[in-house]
Amino acid sequence: MWTRACIFDLDGVIVDTARYHYLAWKRLTDDMGIVFTGKDNEQLKGVSRMASLDIILGIGGKKLSLPEKKELAALKNKWYLDYINRMSPADILPGTLQFLNELRHNHIKIALGSASRNTPLLLKRLGMQNDFDAIADGNTVENTKPDPEVFLKAAGMMGIDTARCVVFVDAVAGVEAALKAGMICIGIGEHSVLNDAHMVISGLYEMDLDKLIALEKRLGYEKFI
Ligand code: BG6
Repeated sequence: MWTRACIFDLDGVIVDTARYHYLAWKRLTDDMGIVFTGKDNEQLKGVSRMASLDIILGIGGKKLSLPEKKELAALKNKWYLDYINRMSPADILPGTLQFLNELRHNHIKIALGSASRNTPLLLKRLGMQNDFDAIADGNTVENTKPDPEVFLKAAGMMGIDTARCVVFVDAVAGVEAALKAGMICIGIGEHSVLNDAHMVISGLYEMDLDKLIALEKRLGYEKFI
């Protein structure tokens, strides 16, 4: 196989936390009198907490000082954590553990590449702290997606050539970041939204090694092996 490592986004790929992020932001925007819709929320997927707040303030046409913004971001996170703290291994999205096992048995490395600073807590809640060869997250990277830093960092931690990494993401910013990193990108969600990805599936329950090999072939990687 061409692929040596798979890098997974966390929110929206391994676990469905996007709705909790949305509910927490919605509570904040309702309090602030900002109209914030589910469609607006799409722009925040894969984007860091502070960058998300900046997008929201832009939507509401509001300008705030850094200390004010920090306070609002902390409040949103407090509400978000109320949801996260109730999560358990039962919340791992279907097909995730099976696919990770298949990768492991075939000696393909597994990494996490997430913008979330709550990654350690979330992995603990899911019982997945020991499932990854490398973890790059919002606590260890400077630049938010669509910057490729988080995926490049994960590849670097594993010592794997970036061209031999496959990224699984649920958001436009993640697709852009993966492509900028020079990696194969598999989108999880809607074709119409993630159309720049090399392949789009509905969830990891649709993925297996045979499909990955077929994708490598379609992209012409087999000639390099
Ligand atoms: C990403 C989510 O994974 O993490 C974004 O898709 C979120 O919606 C970002 O804003 C940062 O998350 P956190 O947990 O650090 O607030």
